[in-house]
Amino acid sequence: MDGGGLKRRVRDFWNENPCGVVYAGGESRRAYYDGQARTRYELEPYIRAFARFEEGHDKDVLEVGIGMGADHLEWANARPRSLTGIDLTLMAVEHTKERFELQGFTPCVFVADAEWLPFRDASFDIVYSWGVLHHSPDTAKGVEEVSRVLRPGGRARIMLYHKRSITGLLLWLRYGLMAGRPFRSWSEIYSHHLESPGTKAFTVEEARRMFSRFRHVEISLRLSIGDLLEGAAGQRHGGEFLRLMRGLWPRWLMRRFCRRFGLCMLIEAVK
Ligand SMILES: C[S@@+](CC[C@H](N)C(=O)[O-])C[C@H]1O[C@@H](n2cnc3c(N)ncnc32)[C@H](O)[C@@H]1O
Repeated sequence: MDGGGLKRRVRDFWNENPCGVVYAGGESRRAYYDGQARTRYELEPYIRAFARFEEGHDKDVLEVGIGMGADHLEWANARPRSLTGIDLTLMAVEHTKERFELQGFTPCVFVADAEWLPFRDASFDIVYSWGVLHHSPDTAKGVEEVSRVLRPGGRARIMLYHKRSITGLLLWLRYGLMAGRPFRSWSEIYSHHLESPGTKAFTVEEARRMFSRFRHVEISLRLSIGDLLEGAAGQRHGGEFLRLMRGLWPRWLMRRFCRRFGLCMLIEAVK
């Protein structure tokens, strides 16, 4: 399939399944969004630690792939000089607009493609993107665009999926080994069974190569809710195997010894 066909499928997927919507709920629309944000930061406390939203104060900040807008609101609360958000889907833009309007803000968010950012070179001090570029067919082009729109000395904070992860192992057990296809590659399994069609995961070396145009790059790994089988992780896979694994999963052991097999690869890069 060409990149355009795949991108349409990616857009359709996220329009139908906005990221994090399973955690939203409550009596009012405000409670709906507050509940989603609360659960998000409880389950993934490393998001705040990595993003360092407060550093957005008085800066020009761009978020690529806003989803339901929880992080975008955190950036807004830091009172940046300017805040801009884009997403491939109208659904994400509408959720973020509603979330902001309920707080009395009007956001600058619109539909755009991470691979073709509609901004001039050197427009932003911070570009943030959590769990987005690995869904886009040409992730390297997205990284190039992040670098292009950053000012010299500006910072990119990007989360991409890490290939050698416990999530990858679980998916391989389920869709490789238990499906009688043990030689199926992990790339194919991620592409078909982890979120939107064509999703990719990268080794640390591959990520370093993609970010080689940056002056300084720091990469660290975190266990995701998928690796720990927490929250709604694995919901779409269902089945007895998963139910059993959730009950038996030795989370404390993983937190202690398996951090380098986390799905979340946190990349901080200075242009
Ligand atoms: C897993 S969600 C993450 C959303 C948000 N950052 C979060 O953490 O909740 C992935 C998001 O990336 C968006 N996305 C995928 N490909 C994109 C592209 N090429 N350009 C912009 N957004 C894209 C999807 O529409 C979706 O909202």
